[in-house]
Amino acid sequence: MNHLLSIEELDRAAIERIVDRAERFAEVADREIKKVPTLRGRMVLNLFYESSTRTRSSFELAAKRLSADVVNFSAGGSSVEKGESLKDTVLTLSAHKPDVIVIRTPWVGAAELVSRWCSAAIVNAGDGKHEHPTQALLDVYTLRRRIGSLDGLSVWIVGDVTHSRVARSNIIALRKMGAKVTVAGPPTLIPRQIEALGCEVRYTLDDLHTADVVYALRMQNERMTEAWVPSLREYAAWYQVNGRRLRPRQLLMHPGPVNRGVELSGEVVDSPQSLISAQVEAGVVVRMAVLYELLSGARGETPSPLHPTRSPQPA
Ligand code: CP
Repeated sequence: MNHLLSIEELDRAAIERIVDRAERFAEVADREIKKVPTLRGRMVLNLFYESSTRTRSSFELAAKRLSADVVNFSAGGSSVEKGESLKDTVLTLSAHKPDVIVIRTPWVGAAELVSRWCSAAIVNAGDGKHEHPTQALLDVYTLRRRIGSLDGLSVWIVGDVTHSRVARSNIIALRKMGAKVTVAGPPTLIPRQIEALGCEVRYTLDDLHTADVVYALRMQNERMTEAWVPSLREYAAWYQVNGRRLRPRQLLMHPGPVNRGVELSGEVVDSPQSLISAQVEAGVVVRMAVLYELLSGARGETPSPLHPTRSPQPA
């Protein structure tokens, strides 16, 4: 694996390999000293043109737990504000010779473009409404840890599918893992021909009780140029996942950040059925596994998940 630009590039075996490795890295997270020397001397550049709490912090933590050097770049406060282009920014920061560039932008295809401009391995941490492959990997990891095999699992993805890179990456990943995926939401927020990804479409939550897992999405107001629903109050009345709609046996997921009172009621966010905190926790070990895959695994240096040449030990 040279880059991780899209979950489409990974087959089921590759997803399972990354998730298996993440499970082994979870052991590091349980140690008193949560660090291994696996990527000592390597450099990870986090290049963020959009806001992020979970993805940016977990990539930083993942790189640090593997002993890599980390440079965090945010477009705000940088020379981007003086007009420097994405390409010139990438070429400038490439002078520091990063081994991996983790990039989030509002532009579809930006990660793929960056992969043509420099020699670093590129990880797409979200490109507009296109893809967010590491979110899909951490969601597969979270579900597998909680319930085992995903074969035959019914997952309903509810809400603003049109503007959601998480929905797209998750439909693809969950289908590859054998789950049955249904997307549900108002017709304006379900893209045409989404069925081509192998999912079913519903415009009501009447059959939500059939789901094993309910995966709610945030209303992506920052990507909306017009009113896609009459009002948030009306949206919540029809599509909010709340205590009335979520059955006790069902699991609840959300990529965050949550708009409490819109797509989810506070009671379900805080309920024992919610895997939202587990998803955040999974982010670190899954991103450790992705960095490992890009910098060590793909080169076949060693079968060890924790260090290419030595036994696992605190750095
Ligand atoms: N899920 C996710 O990408 O969250 P952040 O925007 O906080 O990184």
